[in-house]
Amino acid sequence: MSGFEGKAVLISGAGSGIGRATSLAFAAHGAHVWVTDFDKAGADRTVELIADAGGTATAVKLDVRLESDWQAAFDLTDAHAAALTTVVNCAGKSMLADTFTMSLDELRLVMAINVEGAFLGMKHGIPRIAKSGGGAVVNISSIMGLKGKARMAAYCGAKGAVRMMTKAIALECAELRNKVRVNSVHPGVVDTPAWSKHDAKEARMLAGAEGASGMLDVHEVAGAMVPIGVAASAEEIAETVRFLASDAARHITGAEIVIDGGMTAD
Ligand SMILES: NC(=O)c1ccc[n+]([C@@H]2O[C@H](COP(=O)([O-])OP(=O)(O)OC[C@H]3O[C@@H](n4cnc5c(N)ncnc54)[C@H](O)[C@@H]3O)[C@@H](O)[C@H]2O)c1
Repeated sequence: MSGFEGKAVLISGAGSGIGRATSLAFAAHGAHVWVTDFDKAGADRTVELIADAGGTATAVKLDVRLESDWQAAFDLTDAHAAALTTVVNCAGKSMLADTFTMSLDELRLVMAINVEGAFLGMKHGIPRIAKSGGGAVVNISSIMGLKGKARMAAYCGAKGAVRMMTKAIALECAELRNKVRVNSVHPGVVDTPAWSKHDAKEARMLAGAEGASGMLDVHEVAGAMVPIGVAASAEEIAETVRFLASDAARHITGAEIVIDGGMTAD
C-alpha cells in the first residue's frame, strides 16, 4: 500500500512544472489523478506520463478563473469511483512590473489566477473532500507570499493572499470538524518552465538573473538569489505536497512549509 489507493486527487495547473510533478507523485502512490489545466495539451501529456509509469489519471480542461469550469470538473469527480480526498491549487502566474505603470487589468489577471483560482478550488472542493470522510487541500503559494520584492507587487499581493486565505479556511474547516486540513507550500526558485514565460523586459527587472539570451535563466536566478546556490526540482516540491496530503501530516493544518534553499532565513 502506498497510501492513496482508491482515492482521487484533483490538481490545477497540472499540465507543467510543479503541477505535473505532483500529479506523477500522487499517481505513483496509487491515487487516481484529475490532471487539470487550461492548457489541455499539457494536461494530456501529464496523463500520458502517468499512464507510462503505470498510474491512472484523467485530463480535464479547467481555467481556474471560471467557476463553471470548476463545477464541471467536480461533476466528473462526483461520478467517479475513487473518493476525492485532496485538492492541490497549483495553477499560478507571476509577473514582474513597475507598479506605477502597471495596469489594473494586469494586477487583476495575477489576482484572478492565483487568488480567485485557489478560492474556487476550496469553495467547491472542500465540501466534496469532507463528504469523502476527510483529506487535505494544499495551496501552492511562494516565498513571495512571505516577503516583499520590488516590482512584484501583484505576485506578492496574490501569494500573500493565498497564504492568509489558507489559514482562515483551515480554521473554518477545524470549526466544522469536517476533517479537511488546509496548508500552503512556499517554494523559492524551482526549475520549471515558468521562468521562460517571462519576457526580456521582465528579465531586466531581476538584476543578475538574466541568462545569455537576455531572458530569465532559472540557474542564473538560483545562483544569484538562493543561499545554497541551486534551484529546487519540481519533484522536491511534489514530495512535500504529497506529505501534507498524507495521514502522516494529520496534525498539520493552517500551516506553511517553506522550500527555498535558505532564501527567507535572513
Ligand atoms: N517555479 C518557481 O520557481 C516557483 C516558485 C514559487 C512558487 N511557484 C508557484 O508554483 C506554481 C506552479 O508553477 P510552475 O513553476 O510549475 O509553473 P509552470 O508555468 O510550469 O506551470 C503552471 C501551470 O499553470 C497553468 N495555468 C496558468 N494559468 C492557468 C489558469 N488560468 N487556469 C488553469 N491553469 C493555468 C499553466 O498552463 C501551466 O501548466 C504556481 O502557483 C507558481 O506561482 C513557482
